[in-house]
Amino acid sequence: MMNFQLTEEHLAVQEAAREFAQMELLPGVIDRDSEARFPAEQVKKMGELGFLGMMVDPSYHGGGMDTLSYVIAMEELSKIDASASVAMSVNNSLVCWGLEKYGTEAQKEKYLKPLASGEILGAFCLSEPEAGSDATSQRTEAVLDGDHYILNGTKNWITNGSSASVYLVIAQTDHSKGHKGISAFIVEKGWDGFVIGKKEDKMGIRGSDTHSLMFTDVKVPVENRIGEEGFGFNFAMETLNGGRIGIAAQALGIAAGAYEFSLAYSKERKAFGKPISQHQAIQFKLADMATQIEAARLLVYKAAVLKDQGEDYAHASAMAKLYASEVAMNVTIEAVQIHGGYGYVKEYHVERLMRDAKITQIYEGTSEIQKIVISRSILR
Ligand code: CAA
Ligand code: FAD
Repeated sequence: MMNFQLTEEHLAVQEAAREFAQMELLPGVIDRDSEARFPAEQVKKMGELGFLGMMVDPSYHGGGMDTLSYVIAMEELSKIDASASVAMSVNNSLVCWGLEKYGTEAQKEKYLKPLASGEILGAFCLSEPEAGSDATSQRTEAVLDGDHYILNGTKNWITNGSSASVYLVIAQTDHSKGHKGISAFIVEKGWDGFVIGKKEDKMGIRGSDTHSLMFTDVKVPVENRIGEEGFGFNFAMETLNGGRIGIAAQALGIAAGAYEFSLAYSKERKAFGKPISQHQAIQFKLADMATQIEAARLLVYKAAVLKDQGEDYAHASAMAKLYASEVAMNVTIEAVQIHGGYGYVKEYHVERLMRDAKITQIYEGTSEIQKIVISRSILR
């Protein structure tokens, strides 16, 4: 745990992800953000390179890598394009992980294999118009009817909402049992009664396709339930523990990207006869940014390593997400400041990173929810 040296394999993943971000994500990222266009071509290539099922066992067409490799790749891609990296995060840690850990052999054969190889994309559907932080207040319901369930309800804010082919949907199967009466299902795009709602027009991660989803009398075969009836809320929480490590790595990457742009700019931009990096006010900003990023990286790596070692990582993943997302906000605001007026326009990237940073404090549990998870664990 205290070995701070990355292995050759980790360094190779980092190099591959960095090169992909520079060569494939950087060109066009400003236009995709302006036009709120999903990075479809880029995400397809990410699948071909193995970025969409990194931790899945090779027997299910995944990369068989550890969580540390995954967060290293997430950081590099998020330095440039957080819209692409959130698609990657959802597919890896919410959809593939949940299916590999809790799915049946038949579910893995049918759904996990194409998801892990990047042939298709997945989505994770927990939030509803009136059940966000308060996730146990599910209104979506699934009623057993012979060999299938009848699914009705609305999900909100679903990442990969229109680009996914497979949706993990959380729904109430027994209202009398509260969160113990919630179950999880695999739903396919195109099934009768499943309608994809409007795309959200967002502040940041504008390339990510966030949609509401409507289910009206959708027939879901019993064999598409994940785990036992009543396991759905625990399934969602366990899955989110790993997901939050992915989002923490995304936040880290957004911060590190903004820092790298700022460091380079501060050496080029001159004011009062010298590069602005020679002014102590700028030097101190860079020092604060670098220190906060390093601290965030240690928390993210620690959560990943705990998960890889089979230890309890719920508390560590909440801490990593809470802190890294705060660092992403602080650092991107300072990055805009270092760029002056140029930081306020799209060409220099940092204004986008600042807008993208904000979502990391909201999704996969807001910062307030992470504090609930952390404090409950401390006080237990
Ligand atoms: N790990 C494992 N289990 C957990 C858990 C965790 N982190 N947090 C809660 N649970 C379990 C509890 O142990 C309990 O299970 P048992 O009854 O079997 O013991 C069950 O969940 C209910 O927990 P609570 O009694 O604590 O329920 P609560 O209503 O008081 O609080 C909550 C639960 C932690 C606030 C939870 O509702 C929560 O995490 N809310 C945030 C929802 C969220 O993160 N949504 C993200 C949607 S996905 C997304 O956002 C993707 C994206 O953007 C890209
Ligand atoms: P609310 O729960 O209404 O919270 C409002 C405010 O009240 C927040 O500041 C919150 O922290 C605070 N608050 C609420 N309860 C408490 C409390 N007990 N103590 C202290 N403060 C509290 N969801 C999915 O299921 N799948 C996805 O793929 C997905 N992708 C998303 C993508 C985007 C771009 C966005 C914006 C959201 C996405 N979400 C997704 C939903 C996201 O997880 C929720 O927005 C988030 O969990 C917060 O829920 P809410 O928006 O209903 O806010």
